[in-house]
Amino acid sequence: MMLCLQEIIDTSRNKLKLASIQSANIDSVLLLSYILGVSREYLITHSQEVISEKNCLDYFAIIDRRIKGEPVSKILGKKEFYGRDFIVNSDVLDPRPDSELIIDTAKELFSNRNEKLKFLDLGTGSGCLLLTLLLEFRDARGVGIDISEKAIEVAKRNSYLHALNDRGSFIISDWLDSIKFEDFNLIVCNPPYIPDEDINDLNKDVKLYDPIVALSGGNDGLRYYKKIITQLKKKNLNKKIIFIMELYSDSADAIIKLMINAGYEANTIKIRQDLSNKRRVMFTDL
Ligand SMILES: C[S@@+](CC[C@H](N)C(=O)[O-])C[C@H]1O[C@@H](n2cnc3c(N)ncnc32)[C@H](O)[C@@H]1O
Repeated sequence: MMLCLQEIIDTSRNKLKLASIQSANIDSVLLLSYILGVSREYLITHSQEVISEKNCLDYFAIIDRRIKGEPVSKILGKKEFYGRDFIVNSDVLDPRPDSELIIDTAKELFSNRNEKLKFLDLGTGSGCLLLTLLLEFRDARGVGIDISEKAIEVAKRNSYLHALNDRGSFIISDWLDSIKFEDFNLIVCNPPYIPDEDINDLNKDVKLYDPIVALSGGNDGLRYYKKIITQLKKKNLNKKIIFIMELYSDSADAIIKLMINAGYEANTIKIRQDLSNKRRVMFTDL
């Protein structure tokens, strides 16, 4: 049966709605524009155009993947972060809008965008944090580390995508085991922080499609906060280094306590809230 663009969108939207996919409207359009290689505007202006049987079969195959819970980003192989696209696959966490607060905080703390800064990104995943910082600070350089070799491969692909391979490098490291943080001006980190008992309650599109190494923070969700904060124990450095870290808001008090136990004064630990008023980011001078 030959269907026109409008009919195919209506049919897939209804299938997605029946499967309780909240974003059925936008997903049906995004996935069709991906299969046809045309813009969303084209779909509107050519709504009566008939599509080939092959395109129709390919489209309904990815609609079925979406119905099974696969996120649109993983189907398209890209996700937007801070207004730019980043390559994603099953080896990396999808960049989250909440993590954009790390970038906003860095821009607020380093107001001179032309400074020759050095950034370190711990648990870089897709590289979205480091690469966005390098795009916002055009004279900066940086290193991203991750324990996952496959994530490092994705981060490197993203650095080529954004023509940043000369300013950003990526290495495998177990947190700070293979790198000296004293060489940097800014350290950012979004560690895995979901307590193991909460992993099962995550939405299917997260639980089944983001890598577990990017999600699990151990029994209490604090395993990596403890390790990183221990490695960044307060020393009296003769250089200003700022540390910005994403918080699992439910663990914010426990994380602040870890910082205080590591020698940081409570009044030097600053918190930023996300759009839903949850404590999302902490920062301090090391
Ligand atoms: C929550 S994801 C953050 C990814 C990315 N920075 C972002 O914000 O989208 C945490 C990252 O930490 C990495 N990771 C987990 N254990 C690690 C370890 N022991 N050392 C370094 N990185 C680790 C994971 O592979 C994952 O890429």
